[in-house]
Amino acid sequence: MREAQSSGDVATRASRGVAGRSRSSRATADSAALSAVLEAVPFACAAYARDDGSLVVANRRFHDEFGALPEHAQRARLLQSLHGGDVADAEPAEVHAPHSARWYALHWRDTAHAGRELALLTAVDISERIETLDTHKTQQEKLLFTSRLMSVGEMAATLAHELNQPLAAIVNYLNGSLRLVDQAGGPVQVERALRAARAQAEHASAVIARVREFVRAREPRRDAHELPALAATVLELLRLEAERLQLRIDLALAPALPAVYADRVMVEQVLLNLVKNAIEAMREVPAKRRELRIEGRVNLDGEIEVRVCDRGHGLSAADQDQLFSPFFTTKTDGLGIGLAICRSIIEYHEGRLFFEPRDGGGSVFGFTLPRAEGRA
Ligand SMILES: Nc1ncnc2c1ncn2[C@@H]1O[C@H](COP(=O)(O)OP(=O)(O)OP(=O)(O)O)[C@@H](O)[C@H]1O
Ligand SMILES: [Mg+2]
Repeated sequence: MREAQSSGDVATRASRGVAGRSRSSRATADSAALSAVLEAVPFACAAYARDDGSLVVANRRFHDEFGALPEHAQRARLLQSLHGGDVADAEPAEVHAPHSARWYALHWRDTAHAGRELALLTAVDISERIETLDTHKTQQEKLLFTSRLMSVGEMAATLAHELNQPLAAIVNYLNGSLRLVDQAGGPVQVERALRAARAQAEHASAVIARVREFVRAREPRRDAHELPALAATVLELLRLEAERLQLRIDLALAPALPAVYADRVMVEQVLLNLVKNAIEAMREVPAKRRELRIEGRVNLDGEIEVRVCDRGHGLSAADQDQLFSPFFTTKTDGLGIGLAICRSIIEYHEGRLFFEPRDGGGSVFGFTLPRAEGRA
């Protein structure tokens, strides 16, 4: 009976030097009786003397779960070891034991035994309940996030679907009008205006077609893709907006870049989001500073690195911390999901999305992608 002995040892040590021999042996017998009771309790359990706080007896579970206790374990010291050293005067009801990383609910009861005032401590292991609560919480958060993203995706799909028909009709009416103006030899200004309107409507249809493709492409398909082609698609989509803002776009891709191993639509979406943010950041700066540079190169790790560099207002230190959190936005019309989506797409591709301030003002948003060599 190792446990009875060890509790007995503790009890003997605790009472040694208090009085003479017979008193000491009676105390030992009392402690043994108390120890037998504590052993029968199905939780970690210990009794402390209320006068000096020393440990009188503890059951085996207590020793097993809280490890070896100091020779004259004090109640305060026990709490300290349970808290990893930080106990104020408050005695919390739930503690996290640092050495076992388990959670315990502590119950203190005052009692008396064999003429001694005792404080009885029961520590119930509640790790499972805490863990269940924790997983529940993260699951809930995830669900909330996915459902919000899903509704954004669904909204995009609905909009794309609903706008497709009227846009096609607008293009048809414009074509008809152009034919009529042509037949009637109508004013050339009207013809020019109609052509411009048709170009806009066709562009809107193209954007919607891309959204539909993106929403449909739920399952990523990774393949070898050339960066210049990806960049060209994205720049075409943003051409009108760039022209409207008189913004120069400088595409600086290193020659003969190796192909990337990626899902084309997804990476286009990332680049689109980053360039859109860059353009939005330059709205308020003087036109001559509105210059956007897209760089592409092989970095020191052999990955393909793309950098979108703007001359916008940059970012405060506080904003940098929250940048990639979903729903963080400083724009009145922003959803704050652009960068969060970019990050999950890039991480899915085993790459890295990063931000750094740009020399001379503005921001650099960049990402890395693996090269396709040997993979596709
Ligand atoms: N190039 C940039 N320069 C300065 N700030 C930026 C830049 N890109 C992003 N930010 C900041 O990060 C925030 C989050 O960007 P994110 O793309 O995730 O959301 P958003 O652009 O606000 O909305 P949306 O969901 O429509 O993209 C922005 O609101 C802006 O404050
Ligand atoms: Mg954005």
